[in-house]
Amino acid sequence: MFLKDKKILIGITGGIAAYKVYELIRILTKEGAKVKTVLTPSALDFVSPTVLSTLTSNVPYWEWDYKNPLVHIDLAKWCDVFLIAPATVNTISKLALGIADNLLTATWLACDKPKIVAPAANTVMFKNPAVQENLKKLQKWGVEIIPTQKGLLACGDLGEGKLADINLIRDYLVKAQTPQRWKGKKVLITLGATKEYLDPVRFISNGSSGKMGLALAKAIFYQGGKPILVAGDTKVEIPEWFETVRVETTQEMLEACLDIFPSVEAVFMNAAVTDYKFEKTYQNKLKKKEKELIVKLVPTPDILTQLGKLKRNQILVGFAVETQSLVENALKKLRKKNLDAIVVNPSKVMGSDTYEGFLITKDSLVEEIKKPTKEEAALYITQRVAEIFFNPRG
Ligand SMILES: Cc1cc2nc3c(=O)[nH]c(=O)nc-3n(C[C@H](O)[C@H](O)[C@H](O)COP(=O)(O)O)c2cc1C
Repeated sequence: MFLKDKKILIGITGGIAAYKVYELIRILTKEGAKVKTVLTPSALDFVSPTVLSTLTSNVPYWEWDYKNPLVHIDLAKWCDVFLIAPATVNTISKLALGIADNLLTATWLACDKPKIVAPAANTVMFKNPAVQENLKKLQKWGVEIIPTQKGLLACGDLGEGKLADINLIRDYLVKAQTPQRWKGKKVLITLGATKEYLDPVRFISNGSSGKMGLALAKAIFYQGGKPILVAGDTKVEIPEWFETVRVETTQEMLEACLDIFPSVEAVFMNAAVTDYKFEKTYQNKLKKKEKELIVKLVPTPDILTQLGKLKRNQILVGFAVETQSLVENALKKLRKKNLDAIVVNPSKVMGSDTYEGFLITKDSLVEEIKKPTKEEAALYITQRVAEIFFNPRG
């Protein structure tokens, strides 16, 4: 939905990963984006113009003709963002030299919109200093380079140079269209549910999905920040490109947070921490017996309170679920835990796709949030936090 009506020009070059562009186009058009494609002549060996035309509802371009002599200028003006995926080392090097010897490279030179390059090549080709220098040059000129993945390459080698996951490429396209309010900032985000064990197989926990936490991480990424995730049990899959520390218990989550906290500029504490743990945990599985089992629960450590005490310049944002007096109860929590802001929502939001709640700051600013999706709510919350705390007049 972030890409609805965005005009995306995809440049396709002659690399074996070009077939993946079909799936990428499907993701983008399903989200409402308008897609056009421009190909190098070599790319015609790897993708079919008929398929591209069908998937994009637009004719693909790869050469000039007398009917379209200025097509490179038209395409450059038409798009909101120009992505080359996959980008061969040959085309990367041409871009770094300003060569315009085919329709794709000419369109690139004629284009002053945000530009993204997703390279893909055999490891040795990709690591060649000429290619690396050329990538650095493009980056210096403001081109976003999507890191390649490590993995099994089409040539049979195992190593760096695999085209980035198409979902990550999609996320970079959103990033290119989003104001960079968190540029260069590291942000700790906790998500999911912690578990407290009675014995090796039994535990208490809660049903947190981690959906909002993941949406917050993506929102920080879209705005140029680097999210670091500390995740308990989640129902959502966390993409491998997010730096993530996996934990089970509240104590482990606390330790991971304390470790990361000094290096970040903000914390979004979105995990649903299990507030109680068993006073006694058993080494071996408890045998079922006829008589009742009485266990005692004791409080788990309060991570936010501890971070609130340690905080120097970090912006600390808590999340709360309340069933009554939402704003009043959330404000009490904010003060008690020394937070900068708190986001509170009614319990019906848990497990739901839509979002409603309030953003409350330590200066008692109260903003109502109502969004059709958690992704939009997360983008709004992170935008407002950046505006309020990094630019006090915002
Ligand atoms: C089967 C095959 C696969 C190729 N895969 C890649 C690749 O993944 N990355 C790359 O940089 N070049 C690859 N090449 C080499 C390019 O096709 C070649 O350098 C070509 O000149 C690129 O032209 P272009 O950049 O104008 O598309 C491949 C060549 C062949 C025949």
